[in-house]
Parts: sequence; structure tokens; C-alpha cells
Amino acid sequence: MVRELWGSRLGFILAAVGSAIGLGNIWRFNYLVYSNGGGAFLIPYFVALFTAGIALMVLEFGLGDKFRGSAPMSMRKGNRRFEWIGWWAVVGGLIITMYYVVVISWAFVYVFKSFTLAWGEDTKAYFFGNVLQLTDSPWQLGGFSLEVLVGVVVIWLINWFIDVGGVKKGIEKANMIFMPLLWILAIILVIRGVTLPGAWGGIDWYLKPDFSRLTDYSVWLAAYGQIFFTLSLGMGIMIAYASYLPEDSDVVNNAFIVSFANCAFSFLVGFAVFGTLGYMAQATGQGIGDVVAQSIGLAFVVFPKAISMLPALKVFTAVVFFLALVVAGLSSSISLVEAFAASLMDKFGLERKKAVNITVAVGFLGSLIYATKGGLYWLDIVDHFINTYGLVLVGLLEAVAIGWIFGADKIKEWVNRNSEVNAGPWWDVSIKVITPLVLVVLLLFDIKSNLDAPYSGYPISALGLGLVIILGGMVVSAVLSAKQAEVE
Ligand code: PFF
Repeated sequence: MVRELWGSRLGFILAAVGSAIGLGNIWRFNYLVYSNGGGAFLIPYFVALFTAGIALMVLEFGLGDKFRGSAPMSMRKGNRRFEWIGWWAVVGGLIITMYYVVVISWAFVYVFKSFTLAWGEDTKAYFFGNVLQLTDSPWQLGGFSLEVLVGVVVIWLINWFIDVGGVKKGIEKANMIFMPLLWILAIILVIRGVTLPGAWGGIDWYLKPDFSRLTDYSVWLAAYGQIFFTLSLGMGIMIAYASYLPEDSDVVNNAFIVSFANCAFSFLVGFAVFGTLGYMAQATGQGIGDVVAQSIGLAFVVFPKAISMLPALKVFTAVVFFLALVVAGLSSSISLVEAFAASLMDKFGLERKKAVNITVAVGFLGSLIYATKGGLYWLDIVDHFINTYGLVLVGLLEAVAIGWIFGADKIKEWVNRNSEVNAGPWWDVSIKVITPLVLVVLLLFDIKSNLDAPYSGYPISALGLGLVIILGGMVVSAVLSAKQAEVE
């Protein structure tokens, strides 16, 4: 089979940026800024970008470009024993997609709610009670939340439709529409946010560094974790996308462009979010610190409330905000689906349509649990484990396997062939020393905190099942990796 290619360099960059910019940039980033001391968080965030994020992006682009394969295939070409790492990356990615699609579907439902500002005064009760219809514990599933289920079906169908279209006619074309649209929506939100009375109170808080927080290691760990998440690293996505690059592409430069565009987007949207929160704080006579709830609450509880309080353009702002979430989410979920489908195509010689059908069918079935009334608990539990034992672990294994065993030099030589900016000694230091070190520390602290106290006070039985899902994913990866390949 001839490997498909991107139609243009811009097409590849938009697709990679589309993958990177996602739900993580809109709600996760702002929540982390908020809970880690406002402007103080921006310093570790950018340090993490420069010391680890960009280098790993160069590595993933380099792997895909050199070996011309999805994550499992590229890792195998590095060394037969590494194939498992590639499978765990994409299986972990599929596990994430299962609930990621559900969050997109909440936003999708909220686009329709926006026309009537259906959430009313008590946005919290509306979200958890009316929309999710949340039960009391993870062990009470309570049937489906119908609206969410419909949303999940629609979002999966869109994913299927785009990925079946292929690299150029599906993914590239979709991103050619999604990316300009998303930036326009974001700019509208920023203008709306910063022109509100009281906005600068919020923005000042967003930008003002609190240097005392920099001595707190947890702020640093959160920043490194967010950089991996936001750049879509450790999920085999960037490897798959780079495997469709034409020969002689400038890998290093592309990695810089994609990483910067992604972080610039988060930084920009911060103005919209904190401007709006500043307005809300002023209007209610509260401090910024009092208006925000937890992460999920930021987009679906606090923001609707702020929108309802706006002096004008309420419906418009609401539609733009939730539409932005849907578009950002979709351009990321299609990349997660592609990373897995491409792996099936590479290993078993499947036609694209068949590989996408399998991926979407498995993904959809997995999403069902999160569309139940107890689904939010499972989302929270699985998300908690997969971030650490999925992307952080994969990032670590990649850095060690390629950096130390396969040899960072071979990738460096490859990517420097056509690069305007060369991967210099900074790259070696980052891949071989900083990235593994930071990720090991992240992993150890996470294990420790899990052992110290059950996460979020969930019953041990539910946390156990969450862990079983993760371990099950690892076993599936090992099995897939051990299978004989149809194509070599
Ligand atoms: N980078 C995207 C985001 O920040 O939402 C999508 C994403 C990819 C999230 C991979 C998480 C992930 F593991």
C-alpha cells in the first residue's frame, strides 16, 4: 500500500496544531493557571515548553518522518522490543478518546442550550442535575443521560466521517476549516472578554507572577504535565501525523511552529477567560479567587453563569464559546482516532475504512459508560490514571528507548538534514536528561499521592477498576505487539 501524504506543509501544520489545541487549552490550561497561583504558573509552563515539550515534539516528528509509520511501527523499526511502547501510546490514546468525545458532546449539547441560556441562575445544579443527572456514586450508573448520549453519537459520527476521508481529503481538509474558524472564535471571545468592565482586574491576576509559588514543586509538576497533554505528546499522534510528511520536510522548524501556535492559543484564550472572570468578580463583589470552581466546572458551570450576567450579547457569546470548545475538541479527537487507526493499517494491512470502522466502533462502545448518569465519576477516575500511566509513562519510555538505547544521534542526524534551525546539544540534554528526569519525578510523586490517600475520596473498589482498565490496556498493547504483522 502506498502511504498517503499531506497535500501541503500548511496542511500538516494545521492538522498538528489542530491536534494540539483542544479541550486542554480552553478549560484545563485556565484551571491550572487559576489553581497554581495565576501568572506564577506561566513561568514553569514556558520553561517546560522549552526544556521538554519542543524536544519531544522534534523526537516524535522525527520518528514518524524517518520510519514512515504509526507509533507501533516506528518504534518497532527502532527496535523490535519497542513496539509495545507504541501500542501502549495509541491504546492509551483510544482510552482517552472514549471520554474526550463525551466532554465534546457536553459542549455540543451546550451550543443548543445557549440559544435560550437554558442553564438559568443555578448553573451548577443545571449541569450536574439536569444535563448529566449525576448519581451519588460511581457504582450507580442509573441509565443514560439522553442528551449526552445523542451528543456522543453525533460526535463519533463526525470523527468517523472525517477519518474515513483519509489524510488529505479528510483530516487535512477538516483542519483547513476548523483552524481558521477556531482562531476567529477565540479572537471574538478575547475581544468580548477584555472589553467588559472589571476585566482588567482578572487579567492583572492572570499575568501577575507570584514568585513565592515557584518554590512549590507541585506547580512545576503541573506545568510539565500540562505541556505533554496540550502538545498531544505520548499518544502516538504526532508520530502518525509526521509519517505522512513528504520527503525532505523541515521537521525541527515544524515542531517549533506547532508548539508555539499551541501555547500562544492557550495564552490568548486566557485573556478571554480571565477577563470574563474579572467582570464577574466585580459584578458580584467577589475576589477572582472566589468565582472559580474545579476544572470541569470552569467551562460548564462558571462560564455559563458569567455569560448570563453579561450586559449584552449573551446568546452570541455563549454560542461562540461552546462552538469553540466543540471545534477545538473535534480537531483533537480526529487525531487520536487516526493514531490508532493508522496503527491497525500499518500492522495488519487493513484498508483505511476498515481500520477506522474498528477504531470508531470500539471507541463508541467505550464512550457509553461515560454517557451514563454515573459517567462523570468514571471519567474523573480514568482521566486521573491515564494521564500519568499513559502519556507521562510513554513520554518517559520514548525518551529512554530512543534517547539512550536506539540513539538520540540517529534521530538528530535525520531531522537536521533539512532543518533551518538545527537540533543542537540542547536537544540531547532535553531528551536524555531533563525529560526522563522530570517524568520519573512526576511518576513517583503521583504513585506516592495515590498510596497516601485514595484519589478524590472515591471508593477503593472504583479506583481499583480504573486501574484495571489501565492495566487491561497495557495487556492489550502487549498482545497486539506480539501478533505477527501482516505487512513488514
Ligand atoms: N492536545 C489536546 C488537548 O490539549 O486537548 C488533545 C489531547 C491529546 C489531549 C492527547 C490529551 C491527550 F492525551
